[in-house]
Amino acid sequence: MTGPIIAIDGPAGAGKSTVGRAVAERLGVGYLDTGAMYRAVTFAVLQRGIDPRDESAVLEVAGSVEMTVGEERVVVDGVDATGEIRGREVTSSVSFVAANPGVRSLLVEAQRAWVANRGGGVVEGRDIGTVVFPDADLKLFVTASPRVRAERRVAEAGGDVDEMEASIIERDRLDSTRATSPLAVDPAAVTLDTSDLGIHEVVAAVVAEVEARSVGGGR
Ligand code: DC
Repeated sequence: MTGPIIAIDGPAGAGKSTVGRAVAERLGVGYLDTGAMYRAVTFAVLQRGIDPRDESAVLEVAGSVEMTVGEERVVVDGVDATGEIRGREVTSSVSFVAANPGVRSLLVEAQRAWVANRGGGVVEGRDIGTVVFPDADLKLFVTASPRVRAERRVAEAGGDVDEMEASIIERDRLDSTRATSPLAVDPAAVTLDTSDLGIHEVVAAVVAEVEARSVGGGR
């Protein structure tokens, strides 16, 4: 049986993961966080002492690393990297890895294989509706103001809101101006601004969207 493909894109800290996980659970399908894949490659790059800007060395890592990006845990070359892929070091280098066109094509291929194996699922990232699954059943663009996103990150992980806001603005700039698959809103995407909505309201809005399109019951 083939299930729906739901693409969720949007900038960092907008609430994509929370929305994606809740929608996947509600539909009884798998959930893939593609940002975690770029982070896992970055982790391996740093572990091997490679400069994240060295395109060919980074591509070699992406082609040889063994990684499992599961819904609960991320394992990289046999090491549980679930916590470390969210750390400062990986976060400050991941934009370089994500801008590497060779790495992107390897990971896009892996993302398509993941969906093909499961016959659908909820996939979250930056280029899912625009590049990876242009024929997704439902495309969502989840966003929120940089200030609100910074406040949410600080509430979760601590730190200074002004500094966090500045780093979010900088990461958005890098993600939306890179040459390969920049963060962009697909014309067919439904935009959800979560700045003034609680998570329950957001999930309710998405579920309503899914039901309106009847993409919950298979195709
Ligand atoms: O969503 P996140 O913060 O975990 O993403 C980590 C980085 O990977 C971020 O710089 C954006 C990039 N990314 C991407 O370029 N394409 C994706 N499909 C997912 C993430």
